[in-house]
Amino acid sequence: MKKRLEEEFSRLFGSSEGVRFFFAPGRVNLMGDHIDYSGGYTLPCALTMGTYAAARKNGTSKLRLYSADYPEEGMIEAELLPKCYRPEWNWANYPFGVVRTLEEEGYPVTEGVDIVYAGTLPASSGLSSSASIEVLTAYLLCELFGFKISVTGLAKLTQKAENEFVGVQCGILDQLSIAAGRKGCAIFMDTGALTYEYAPLELGENALLIVNSNKKRALNESKYNERRQECEEALKCLQTVCDKKALCDFSPEEFETYKEALDREVLKRRARHAVYENARTVQSFEALKQGDIVRFGALMPESHLSLKEDYEVTGKEPDLLAELSNQFPGVLGARMTGAGFGGCLVVLIKKDRVSAYKEKVGMEYLEKSGYQADFYEAEAGGGPCEL
Ligand code: GLA
Repeated sequence: MKKRLEEEFSRLFGSSEGVRFFFAPGRVNLMGDHIDYSGGYTLPCALTMGTYAAARKNGTSKLRLYSADYPEEGMIEAELLPKCYRPEWNWANYPFGVVRTLEEEGYPVTEGVDIVYAGTLPASSGLSSSASIEVLTAYLLCELFGFKISVTGLAKLTQKAENEFVGVQCGILDQLSIAAGRKGCAIFMDTGALTYEYAPLELGENALLIVNSNKKRALNESKYNERRQECEEALKCLQTVCDKKALCDFSPEEFETYKEALDREVLKRRARHAVYENARTVQSFEALKQGDIVRFGALMPESHLSLKEDYEVTGKEPDLLAELSNQFPGVLGARMTGAGFGGCLVVLIKKDRVSAYKEKVGMEYLEKSGYQADFYEAEAGGGPCEL
C-alpha cells in the first residue's frame, strides 16, 4: 500500500521526497449500537483494515487532496481555511471538516498540505470509513504540525467535525474506537463518561466474520438524526417521572417501572432498545472477560432483533442475512453492526464452519436478495500510526 501511495503521490505532485505515510483503522462494533448518543456502553474493536495516507506540507495556502479510491473525483482543492460543507467536495468534506475544527479548537493548520488517500474498507457499509479518514487526517496533521492531542481529544474533535461540518449527528463510537484501537483487544466504552477499558478478544476456536450485505446505506443520515431526536423526546418524557441524565442511565427494571410516561408507542420502543442494548453490552463485556464466548454469541441475535423491531434501523437485506446466519449450524450469533439501514453484519462462528458458511449462506442470500455478500475475517487492530 505504501508503494502504491508513493507512486500516486509522485505522479500527482512531481516527487515523493519528504512524504510521510500514515494509517488509521476502521472499526466494527460487537455490541451496543445506537446508544452512544444516549450515554450507553458500547463494545467495538478497531480493525486491521483501514485508510492509508501519504502527506507532505506544500508551502502554499492550498489543501490538495486526492483519493486513489475515487480517481473519477480527481484532485480536490480548497484554500485554507475551508469554510463550510460543499457538495462538490464530496468525500473531501471529511478531511476539510477536520482542518476547520482543528483551527476552531486552537490548532491552526498554517500551511497547505498535499494528501493522497487509499483505503481497504468498503464504503457505506457500517465499518466507519468516514471516521477512519477523519481520525487519520487529524492524526497526520498533528504529526506534521506538532500538535499534541490526547486519544479522547482526537475522538471528540473529529466527532465535532462530523457533527458540525458534515452535518451528521453521530455519537462518539466510531471516532473513539478508531483513535483508541489496540491490537487484539475489544474496547469497552462508556460514552457518557468518555472513558474506556480493553478486554483481549480471545475467541478460541471461533472466528469473527464481517459480512457485507452490499446493500448500500440509503437515507441513513436523515433517519439517523430522526432516531436521535426520538431518543431525546423519550428521555424528556421519562424525566417527568424520574430524575436521570440519559436514557441509558435507566436500568431495565427502572424502564419497566416508568415506561408509561412515554406517551407514544414508538418512543417506548426506541427507549426499550436503548435500555436493553445497554444492559446487553455490559453482559457481553463480562462474558468476554470470562471467556464465555457461547454467552457472548447468544446475546447477538437478541441485539439484532431489538435493532430490527424496536429501533427499526436494520433493513431487508441485513435481516435476511441475520436470519440465515443465526440458523446456520456453527454460528454462535449474528447481528448487524454500525448505523444499519443496510451495511454489514458481524458473525461469531466456529472456525471450521467458515468455508461452509460462506458457500451456503452466500448462495442463499444471493438467491433471495439478488445481492452478492462479501466476507472479511475481522482482526482487532491498533489505532492511528505513522508507517
Ligand atoms: C454510526 C454513528 C455512531 C453510532 C453508530 C450506531 O456509526 O457514527 O456514532 O451511533 O452509527 O451504533
